[in-house]
Amino acid sequence: MAEENNVKDADELEKEHFVRIVNAFKYYRLYSLNRIRNTERYYDELPDHHRSIIPNFRDHLSKVRNCIETNFHLIKLIIQNTEHMFENKNHGPVENGEEGLRKHPPTSYDMDRVKTTLKQFVRDWSESGRNERASCYDPVIREIRRRFPPQIDPSTVFVLVPGAGLGRLAYELAKLGYSCQGNEWSLFMLFASNFVLNKCREANAHKLYPWIHQWINNKTSSDQIEPISFPDVNPADLPANSNFSMAAGDFLEVYTEPNSWDCVATVFFIDTAHNIISYVETIWRILKPGGFWVNLEIQVYKLKNFGNLKWVNKFLILIFIRRSQPGESAQYLRQSISI
Ligand SMILES: C[S@@+](CC[C@H](N)C(=O)[O-])C[C@H]1O[C@@H](n2cnc3c(N)ncnc32)[C@H](O)[C@@H]1O
Repeated sequence: MAEENNVKDADELEKEHFVRIVNAFKYYRLYSLNRIRNTERYYDELPDHHRSIIPNFRDHLSKVRNCIETNFHLIKLIIQNTEHMFENKNHGPVENGEEGLRKHPPTSYDMDRVKTTLKQFVRDWSESGRNERASCYDPVIREIRRRFPPQIDPSTVFVLVPGAGLGRLAYELAKLGYSCQGNEWSLFMLFASNFVLNKCREANAHKLYPWIHQWINNKTSSDQIEPISFPDVNPADLPANSNFSMAAGDFLEVYTEPNSWDCVATVFFIDTAHNIISYVETIWRILKPGGFWVNLEIQVYKLKNFGNLKWVNKFLILIFIRRSQPGESAQYLRQSISI
């Protein structure tokens, strides 16, 4: 009986979480327009001679407002039918309007996540994200192709991408014919990846203003209202009979079956661990003997430069092989590092 209640509580909590995230997306327009309204008020309160320094600021704000409307149009498409997104869960209808928002109010953290989710489209699915994408996904893809070359039927190679974000790396691997599953636990990411992977069927069909919430570090005000188009490719463009899926949930809980993956590919994932050893143990357990874990992380080095501290970001690729003898620790095979 107590167990039944616990399950019910867990389901209830999950539903509440789901509704809160949907509400965060729904609240985007109101939240963003409020921010503009406040900025406008501060501007109006400036003395005339200060306002005259930036005479076009009001025009700029009204352009930002239009961009918010475009983003919100996209958001409505993203959250459409998300109640039925998962095969194993139906979260039922999500309460609309003020009552729903009052019961499950989004936090400011949630609103930040909505904004970063929109930005993530740039890196993963736009032409302008090409270089950044290449710098973090290409080394991983190259390494996987080297380990599982074209002589091997790629559909027999099972690749798991935990912490898949908006799913581009997993998509690229599926496009090469590998049997690939992305895994992600953030509903923000899952809603957005579901939209791009399952609902976008044409290249560059959507427009988005990813930078409009960035009020600093803009060289000119037009930088802030620069749009992107996405997706840069048609996400449905996959080989016939491709085996590609996304699985929702905590990687540590979803993947318990030993010896089931030929390769685990992680990019900027390991530092999300509360306990990194549990990530390593899980990867070790689920890899087939002889399988590979290809990992790309960013390393931040602190360098002393004439007395000033300088931060330098470098990519670090680590490849681990799962040995066949039980009891042996993972062997560190190669470190290619650009420092
Ligand atoms: C820093 S992001 C990197 C995302 C993606 N690999 C990329 O390069 O864009 C880490 C991702 O891992 C996800 N994540 C964190 N912990 C997770 C877990 N235990 N199970 C599944 N996904 C997780 C986060 O939601 C986030 O999307």
